[in-house]
Amino acid sequence: MRETVSFNVAFVGTGANPDEPSVDGFAMAYRHAAAYERLEDCRLVGCADIVRENAAAFAEEYDIPAEGVFEDYEEMLTAVEPDIVSICTPPATHANLVIGAAESGVVDAIHCEKPMALTWGGSRRMADVCEERGVKLTFNHMRRFGDPFRVAKRRLDDGVIGDLRRIEYAWGNFYDNGTHAVDMCNYFNDEHRAEWVIGQLDYETEDIRFGTHNENQILASWEYENGVHGMASTGPGADAVDSDWRLVGTDGFIDVYLTDRLAVQVYTVDPADCEELTFDKLASEASCIDLAVADVVQAVEEDRESELCARNALNATEIIFAGYESARRRGRVDLPLDIDDNPLEAMVESGDLSPAPADGD
Ligand SMILES: NC(=O)c1ccc[n+]([C@@H]2O[C@H](COP(=O)([O-])OP(=O)(O)OC[C@H]3O[C@@H](n4cnc5c(N)ncnc54)[C@H](O)[C@@H]3O)[C@@H](O)[C@H]2O)c1
Repeated sequence: MRETVSFNVAFVGTGANPDEPSVDGFAMAYRHAAAYERLEDCRLVGCADIVRENAAAFAEEYDIPAEGVFEDYEEMLTAVEPDIVSICTPPATHANLVIGAAESGVVDAIHCEKPMALTWGGSRRMADVCEERGVKLTFNHMRRFGDPFRVAKRRLDDGVIGDLRRIEYAWGNFYDNGTHAVDMCNYFNDEHRAEWVIGQLDYETEDIRFGTHNENQILASWEYENGVHGMASTGPGADAVDSDWRLVGTDGFIDVYLTDRLAVQVYTVDPADCEELTFDKLASEASCIDLAVADVVQAVEEDRESELCARNALNATEIIFAGYESARRRGRVDLPLDIDDNPLEAMVESGDLSPAPADGD
């Protein structure tokens, strides 16, 4: 029988649990906490938020004792010495908080919200520091655990559409939820790295999500090291792709729908293999976050790599920043990506892009 292991879990950035979650605040820590609470071997022991009332309300909701409530995350780590810490703050803070938590020497694992970081340099540094310190770093690309994606991947792996040639997506944008979308493309392509990215974008109206700029439209294309191509067409160009993700193979294609309905459609040269599957929920067993957190905890327990590992997240993040960099350079970007910043943010700061305020004033 498996020995029961106990993990003390803490949270950085609790949020205020709004009635109507939006890109100004989802309070993702509440979703993480509910997922850890489902696991017998996890105990919630601490939380920190620069807004003390947020941390206090969160602690009350999840029975975290008053001694575990802090404004300063470093004080919290020293006081409660968690095994696992979930970081649920805005993207611009992720790199420093992850690095600080890893360097505290206290934690075994850090589960950080997406996108990895504000910049490509920050993304690499947080992964490097965790690697050096032997801290397991994962990112909450939890949609991978959704049933439509798992089913589509199984059909692909079964060879129903022949050999994979191209993955297209037209869901959301390229950075904020694009990090889920590109990560999903990489999941479909067995986590291969890209070799080059070419892209152009349009940014006329400010789209600030969780404090960070996002393009209004991008057309980006990349080639993976195994010869498979990826393509993103977002915003007004989303109609270029007939579904949210399309996997094109030598003998057919698979469409995955997420926006208007939850469905997978398989089209093949052999009509007997064509099928349409619909889903009531993204994940039938539990929420995708529940499944993601369970995998993160199990990976710590079994000392294995979670599929949400930093290496996989870096592969997606590199494509995203390379797409923005291609627009800045007006040319193809060969990988590995050799920049440190976030080209979209930099182009806004330099005045090369001047998006109008979203409210029109
Ligand atoms: N996985 C998903 O599908 C998904 C969905 C929504 C949001 N997110 C991501 O979750 C992250 C958090 O978003 P949110 O909507 O939960 O934010 P939120 O605004 O609801 O909560 C963030 C909290 O972090 C606190 N904070 C900021 N800096 C801090 C620091 N240095 N130390 C401690 N606390 C700090 C803020 O006071 C706030 O209470 C973002 O990266 C966002 O992109 C992911």
